[in-house]
Amino acid sequence: MQERKVKICKGPGCKAWSSDRIARELQEIREALDLEPIRVCRVPCMKVCGGGASVRVNAKSEIVKMKEVDDVLNALGIREAGVTCQA
Ligand code: FES
Repeated sequence: MQERKVKICKGPGCKAWSSDRIARELQEIREALDLEPIRVCRVPCMKVCGGGASVRVNAKSEIVKMKEVDDVLNALGIREAGVTCQA
């Protein structure tokens, strides 16, 4: 898998849309599934506030509004459904 950087806004407008939770859950999934090529970065306000947490999946891609970590997984082409965690 090629390296992919996921930038998630940490500005106040996106925090109101749970960007902190989305970033935390994505980091947990990344670690649980050993998805080393995926890098999660928190970035300042991207100046497109409202309607969801602002996320840019690749450096040249557009900023997309996301409301759940599943939205990010879908953008990355990773399906969480069916994946079970083993203790
Ligand atoms: S607070 Fe996230 S785009 Fe402005």
